[in-house]
Amino acid sequence: MDFEQLAKIENESERVNRTYDIFNEDARLNHSKAARVEFLTTAYYIEKYLKEGDKILDIGAGAGEYSLYFARKGYEVWALELADANIAAFKKKIAPEDRIDLVQGNALDLSRYADSSFDVVLLLGPLYHLKKDEDKHRCISEAKRVCKDGGKIFFAFISNDFVFLTEFGYDIHYFGNGDYDHETFKLHDFPFVFHTVDAARKVLAGGGINILHEVASDGASELLAARINEMSDADYGQYLRYHFYICEKPELLGMTNHLLFVGEKNGCRSDMDRMEAGCQP
Ligand SMILES: C[S@@+](CC[C@H](N)C(=O)[O-])C[C@H]1O[C@@H](n2cnc3c(N)ncnc32)[C@H](O)[C@@H]1O
Repeated sequence: MDFEQLAKIENESERVNRTYDIFNEDARLNHSKAARVEFLTTAYYIEKYLKEGDKILDIGAGAGEYSLYFARKGYEVWALELADANIAAFKKKIAPEDRIDLVQGNALDLSRYADSSFDVVLLLGPLYHLKKDEDKHRCISEAKRVCKDGGKIFFAFISNDFVFLTEFGYDIHYFGNGDYDHETFKLHDFPFVFHTVDAARKVLAGGGINILHEVASDGASELLAARINEMSDADYGQYLRYHFYICEKPELLGMTNHLLFVGEKNGCRSDMDRMEAGCQP
């Protein structure tokens, strides 16, 4: 399968499925210090809200990086994933003692899960692929339906405005030849779907979700990978501290390959919870 063949597949689910015959999701978050920044950041925000005994649903779980991490911390995890290659990679890593219920399915139909079943819902992937607004809204409303009141939902998007610099890092001709609208700087949504910060906010708005954090989850880490991967462990630790220092700064938010929005279903449960969680008014 190559990009030309991929582009010809009309059925969207099948196209996403075949996309991961090309992209190696199994290695994406763990092959280097630079690649680990997104995982460490997202895991930090999830852990900030996890409580003992919480049930987690990982929608678009990929090769299981987050599901396995939290299952091995003692949480019960349900995982749903579309792509054959990612399901196969994930299954290989599940040990008998891991409490993970992994199924192949589509984020647009979570009917196998009852309303208000999960304390934490991860939507770290399907919004990289859904093109139509109606599908984005259905996916978000399904994630919200299965989340308990006061539960947390984690949404990831690919940030339109920074991908230019990352691609330029690989290809000196990217600004001249890149696959984007050369007037508006909107990237063409293939094979992934790209959102500016504002577009991501609009997609999430109106869904009855209170946004607690907006995070530049990997910042310039891919662009600077060669330098970051050469760092000593001590220097890398300080780089991570710097990354966490800037990752919620509104003025830098779009300057990242990946955006993380942390939301809460139906707002905070009490004023005390609101204050502790740092909810926006
Ligand atoms: C870039 S990967 C991210 C995987 C993992 N959540 C992570 O953050 O590392 C995106 C994942 O979302 C999955 N995905 C995309 N659209 C989906 C859908 N409609 N239903 C279920 N999974 C989907 C893809 O197959 C892929 O495994």
